Amino acid sequence: MVTTITVRGETHAEPGYAVTIGERVLDDARTKLAGRRAVIVTDPHVRGLHAARLALDAPIVEVERGEAAKRFATLERVLEDFARLGLGRGSVVVGLGGGSIGDLAGLAASLYMRGLELVQCPTTLLAQVDASVGGKTAVDLAAGKNLAGTFHAPSAVFADTSTLTTLADDEFRSGLGEVLKSALLDGEEFVARLETSADRIARREPHVLHELVARSVRLKSAIVERDPRERDERKALNLGHTFAHAIEHVAGYGRVPHGVAVAVGVGLALRAGGAQELADRVERLARALGLVATLAELRTHTRLDLPATALAQSMQLDKKGVARSPRFVLLDAPGRVRWDQSLEPRVLERVLA
Ligand SMILES: NC(=O)c1ccc[n+]([C@@H]2O[C@H](COP(=O)([O-])OP(=O)(O)OC[C@H]3O[C@@H](n4cnc5c(N)ncnc54)[C@H](O)[C@@H]3O)[C@@H](O)[C@H]2O)c1
Repeated sequence: MVTTITVRGETHAEPGYAVTIGERVLDDARTKLAGRRAVIVTDPHVRGLHAARLALDAPIVEVERGEAAKRFATLERVLEDFARLGLGRGSVVVGLGGGSIGDLAGLAASLYMRGLELVQCPTTLLAQVDASVGGKTAVDLAAGKNLAGTFHAPSAVFADTSTLTTLADDEFRSGLGEVLKSALLDGEEFVARLETSADRIARREPHVLHELVARSVRLKSAIVERDPRERDERKALNLGHTFAHAIEHVAGYGRVPHGVAVAVGVGLALRAGGAQELADRVERLARALGLVATLAELRTHTRLDLPATALAQSMQLDKKGVARSPRFVLLDAPGRVRWDQSLEPRVLERVLA
């Protein structure tokens, strides 16, 4: 089964792009790129597992695994490699890997010669359900995550769900954190679907994975079409993220997988917004999906202190804040979302304690 979801371009002059989801769609990527001058950006692990599937006669630029790739030093090296390889305006950059590869490859593509075409081939659940769609690119700064980046939409996304079988359990669970967020933004039906299929999801049954990716991409693409530059509604996709970014920052980038932090952040946002019953339900669902459900559980699980004061301080830096006051996405019920919300310091202290 193959599902294709089209994301409309930002203006009428832009063609938009297709997100192709299915078990063997890396073959479609190969067809699209045949005859094009391409470079593949990936990491050594993904290269060993999946680069041969792309079977492109293209050079490969290797970067570090995971969040460690999202650094200026790596970005500079990748751009120098592009120059060394003689890439020109007509070349295409292929990001093959998780969200970190996609963010880095996307940023490199948007900067090199003021912008090369980008094709995303996401190979983690998180990247397939979220990161590869919507055109955000970034590297991290010492001051905070994703603080240097651009908007640079891909020309195509190929989400090959068969690549998910080789994912480590932690990485798979991390993707489920973003799926949980998508379901809550989408509405009751998607949340209930996760509740009734938690076992099948944990077993990574191909049909159910396909459905999760397709539903999440449909939700995200509809939102980014309406608000590509995150001026308004797209902010909703940051549900749980003000908390999650602070957790990742205070823990040290790469110590807590992004989606794991998002799942905890979603629970914190629900509690802070007063949706206690929904928070209880979401924590139960998170546990059923094998995720860490609360900040207390995360502290125990990771043996990290994650002090409330450090988390609160880190949130002051979150780039979605206005004049240093962090902004939050809150949810009253599945599908009923409010963004640009501020929270009283005493409420924050209570949920972060
Ligand atoms: N641009 C966006 O809109 C957006 C949205 C959400 C998240 N993100 C970013 O995505 C990043 C997180 O991405 P991630 O969760 O995909 O992790 P990641 O990219 O940081 O790391 C993935 C890890 O899994 C390995 N891996 C990748 N595919 C594999 C496969 N098929 N089999 C086995 N191992 C595989 C990689 O080698 C790597 O070690 C964060 O930096 C986050 O900020 C971006």
